[in-house]
Amino acid sequence: MTTLDEIDLESVPLGATGLQTSELQFGTWRFGRETAEGNLEIGEDRAHELLDAYAAAGGRYIDTADIYGGGASEKWIGDWLADRNRDRFTIASKIFWQIREGDANSRGTNRKTVRERIDALLERLGTDHVDVLYIHRWDDQTPAYELMKTLNGLVEDGKVHYLGTSTLRPNAWKVARANEIARRHGWEPFTVSQPRYNLVDREIEGDYLEMCEEYGVAVCPWSPLGQGFLTGKYDREDGLTGESLAAESPHFADNYLTESAFDTHDVLDAVADEVDATPAQTALAWQIHHDQIAAPIVGARTVPQLEENLGAATVELSDAQVDRLSEAHDGPYANL
Ligand SMILES: NC(=O)c1ccc[n+]([C@@H]2O[C@H](COP(=O)([O-])OP(=O)(O)OC[C@H]3O[C@@H](n4cnc5c(N)ncnc54)[C@H](OP(=O)(O)O)[C@@H]3O)[C@@H](O)[C@H]2O)c1
Repeated sequence: MTTLDEIDLESVPLGATGLQTSELQFGTWRFGRETAEGNLEIGEDRAHELLDAYAAAGGRYIDTADIYGGGASEKWIGDWLADRNRDRFTIASKIFWQIREGDANSRGTNRKTVRERIDALLERLGTDHVDVLYIHRWDDQTPAYELMKTLNGLVEDGKVHYLGTSTLRPNAWKVARANEIARRHGWEPFTVSQPRYNLVDREIEGDYLEMCEEYGVAVCPWSPLGQGFLTGKYDREDGLTGESLAAESPHFADNYLTESAFDTHDVLDAVADEVDATPAQTALAWQIHHDQIAAPIVGARTVPQLEENLGAATVELSDAQVDRLSEAHDGPYANL
């Protein structure tokens, strides 16, 4: 298998921002996250080993959120960055989900919570700006005019460089409308988006991806491996054959352990064999070769998983293989 020192992640355009992103971004959702038994999925030491491994492969784009690990993800990234040149890394974080029980205003993207949360997350990250600030979900309680005005203020204050939206397909028109409002007022629009997308979950194909293209919005998919389903450790008959904590997530089995998803996996396995790569590497390589995708966000619970996944950058797929993978799943929204 490719080792980290044989990988040198390339920089590719982050949509129309002018910024470059590593072709594989690194996601830190599981830093400090508690399992059902109350253990940490990824503790601080492992988090730092994972960040070291990503940086050793030339990785420069780190994705977090203020809700991840109750702030632990940002804090551990901040501690790690303290010994490094912060400017060499692109840091993206997100706000939206409720952070205080019993405090309704601590949820959403109203001006009060946005202004409070940006300062709190910058402090945890130990930096005076994030490169990308995402709204983690769409907040229908806050009018788009208020939202864009508030977010534009953060850009003008230098606390945020680019605005991102982590929304799903049904909200495509809301993003478009918000960008039109921003354009009308000379404010910063959304230029980065983070939807769920992988070989099995094709919900964003069609209007969402077209909207991103129209507005020059970079698409950086989450769950590019279907929370581990596309790594080859699930079997049609036997279910999980290796270790997984992600498989405990609600809806995992409903979404991924289905006949048509396993049919798609069969095509993935065949292409992976042809290019002498693992299914995980091939599923990620498909995204790297995808015209409408800027860079997928790679998740990994262990360093060997990350090392395997980053090896996707060395996998070459022919146009015919990309087409076979694209056409493997029967219909854009099958099963999901
Ligand atoms: N905006 C949002 O709402 C949102 C939502 C989700 C995620 N995200 C972002 O996207 C990132 C990636 O999402 P994701 O974690 O769902 O991505 P994913 O790549 O689809 O799944 C990652 C999980 O798959 C398993 N896995 C990964 N590589 C493997 C390998 N080589 N072999 C075996 N198992 C492997 C691991 O879980 P197990 O070992 O436990 O099976 C790992 O935690 C997150 O960290 C976060 O930054 C954003």
